[in-house]
Amino acid sequence: MCEYCGCQSLASIDELTREHDEVVRLISHLRPAHQEGGVARMAEVAREIVAVLGPHTQVEEHGLFPAMASDFPEQIAALEAEHRHIEAVLAEAADGAMPSDPAWPDRLMAAMAMLRDHILKEQDGVFPAALANLSTEEWEAVEAVREKAGGALSRPTA
Ligand SMILES: [Fe+2]
Repeated sequence: MCEYCGCQSLASIDELTREHDEVVRLISHLRPAHQEGGVARMAEVAREIVAVLGPHTQVEEHGLFPAMASDFPEQIAALEAEHRHIEAVLAEAADGAMPSDPAWPDRLMAAMAMLRDHILKEQDGVFPAALANLSTEEWEAVEAVREKAGGALSRPTA
């Protein structure tokens, strides 16, 4: 990929954005399952969300956020705290286990409402700020984290 025209930054942000879209799509499957009391289905969707969010969060926290933490320390710390909370609730459905806590479905729905707001904050705040501020070297660092982390979506060939 060429270095100076900005296509690397746009490709990195495009992949993160497509992951957000996929997560929002998966979250929409939870409401009907929740209404029908389908905890097993909710757990299955939770694992699908984790598969997308795992590499996504690594790219954000090890690639994008470090480049922004000096300018926006409080915002980045708050976003990372939200990541930890969302991960913890999703993790209760890890490894094919059925969450034993009867309050888990309601807690999951609350965490997913937080995740939707969180995604909007990233898309309206962090991503435009990153596109405006990060250097070529910082985008290369983001891409290096992505190479290691992989991703759940198919990637356009560069
Ligand atoms: Fe994100």
